[in-house]
Amino acid sequence: MITLGIESSCDETAAAVLKDGNQLLSSVVASQTATHHKFGGVVPELASREHISNICYVVERALSGAGVGFESIDGIAVTSGPGLAGALLVGLTYAKGLAFSLGRPFVGVNHLEGHIASVLLEHPSAEFPALALVISGGHTSLFHMRGPTQAEMIARTLDDAAGEALDKLAKLVGLGYPGGPVIDRLSRFGNPSAVSFSLPRISSGELAFSFSGLKSAGVRYVGRSQITPLEAGAEMDPAQVSTDLLNLLASYQKSVVDQVLDRLDKGLRGRRICSIQLSGGVSCNSELRKRSRKHFEGRGIRVYYPSPQLTTDNAAMIAAAGQLRLERGETDPWDLQADPNLPFHGPSPRSG
Ligand code: KG4
Ligand code: ZN
Repeated sequence: MITLGIESSCDETAAAVLKDGNQLLSSVVASQTATHHKFGGVVPELASREHISNICYVVERALSGAGVGFESIDGIAVTSGPGLAGALLVGLTYAKGLAFSLGRPFVGVNHLEGHIASVLLEHPSAEFPALALVISGGHTSLFHMRGPTQAEMIARTLDDAAGEALDKLAKLVGLGYPGGPVIDRLSRFGNPSAVSFSLPRISSGELAFSFSGLKSAGVRYVGRSQITPLEAGAEMDPAQVSTDLLNLLASYQKSVVDQVLDRLDKGLRGRRICSIQLSGGVSCNSELRKRSRKHFEGRGIRVYYPSPQLTTDNAAMIAAAGQLRLERGETDPWDLQADPNLPFHGPSPRSG
């Protein structure tokens, strides 16, 4: 079965061709970071317009990269939410139009379900039950997975997503957008113990993430320090960046990772868990990868994450998540709406 995946929920226009479960024939991502960089974040209207300009070309490139034509597509999986309304509409409308003209089924996929599926695409024998953490610019949610498609959300952020907190500090100190990868790279040259940020305590006692306190503490720290923001377009050469700033970045990143490991530890309590599966843009973070492996693998819990190109937004993960339903002959109705706040609590009744 050949599935065409389409993703346009935020600032990446992506298409991928997946064959029979996990043979990824192609994955094309047109990134808009150059457009949004100078604004320090995604500008929704600009994102929608770029999706419109890119979508046809991206799909055609995915098909030619896979060596298949439109007529070979058996079904289409497309992100229907959550995300930016206008951005989602571009991919969904394109997918419906193509499915209709080809006489093929299409299914709407939850973006979070896609991120979770990205891990299994490359690690199909990852062990269950598992904890799956989706950690990105828009989400920080933890799921208890009894099987590959049986997800129960057990924690989420009460305020900002981890990537949002990283991007906010990066913007403030002139590192541009997206800030996570730059913080990752520069933090290697800083002292992570130089600034101490406390771990948020959740007064209700529930298992949850919170990054707004860290974000405010970072902003306050910059305000009272001697740190001057870098000039727009400055070389991000660590030798040109002040020690104070390098130390702040390393400490801030450490605080994000500390919180993630703490919440994963709490998620393990009272549950039999065989693996931890990390996905979403922030799971690309080298410190998070290194420390989570060290922290859990000594205790016999394997840690999995996708390769970098499948970690940030892509359409291979959407094809992977949608293919199961397409294989069963399911299709969504033509009036399926894009839902910017589409909840994903799992287990999905349709994915069993
Ligand atoms: O999954 P993604 O592409 O989009 C969302 O669904 O949000 O994630 C983008 C987020 C951004 O906040 C970006 O700064 C962050 O992932 N990110 C990183 C790294 N690479 C991307 N954060 C920390 N370290 C990285 N290496
Ligand atoms: Zn994402």
